[in-house]
Amino acid sequence: MRLPVKIAPSILAADFTRLGEHVAEAIAGGADWLHVDIMDGRFVPNISFGPMIPQAIRSLAEEAKIPLDVHLMIEEPERYLEKFAQAGAYRLTVHAEATRHLHRTVQAIRELGVKAGVALNPATSLTAVEEILPDVDLILIMSVNPGFGGQSYIPQSTGKIRRLRQILNERGSNAWLEVDGGISAKNAAEIVAGGATALVAGSAIFRGEKPVADNITEMKNVVRTVFSI
Ligand code: DX5
Ligand code: ZN
Repeated sequence: MRLPVKIAPSILAADFTRLGEHVAEAIAGGADWLHVDIMDGRFVPNISFGPMIPQAIRSLAEEAKIPLDVHLMIEEPERYLEKFAQAGAYRLTVHAEATRHLHRTVQAIRELGVKAGVALNPATSLTAVEEILPDVDLILIMSVNPGFGGQSYIPQSTGKIRRLRQILNERGSNAWLEVDGGISAKNAAEIVAGGATALVAGSAIFRGEKPVADNITEMKNVVRTVFSI
């Protein structure tokens, strides 16, 4: 049975000396999307990588029909949309805090033929996305302050997820409700019960106790218990 919630391993936590193998393990292990974290050292205090990395894993993803879910933690993301679209992004998610004209940026993403998402930092209110809801495919709730993998889930995020779920339902929106940061099999149930439909997990999947595929299965099993399937 197809789960109503997508599992999106974040390759930020993968072993970059063998990125292809690690990504292939995640795909074989049941990853629904591949989450690609782009950090510029300005919007967030860390630098990750540029379009070369999505470009490098793109053929693996395409072969398996797994979308590249690209999370742009960069200032003025509008400057790089085309580059990441060319690198194979299926979706480009920009931060509401990082772009001055969010509506224009979202339109620019869509004009590239790519799905558009909007992300919110933990301290940013949901009102920041209310006006843009009809134009986006996904809202990303950050459950850590963006910039690093391996941080702890901020407990207040669950209330925010619930409130966003209510807004999406009231508006009849089918947008994905993605949550990112500090997610593991231990807290996945509360996040999904709150209304999330996509879970990003880096450390729990690529640096967990078990092999990558087992870590994905464990998370999916937790999701199943929420829906009793
Ligand atoms: C954080 C990134 C996350 C991160 C998640 O800034 O956006 O996608 O890779 O990593 P974990 O699951 O380790 O918190
Ligand atoms: Zn991310």
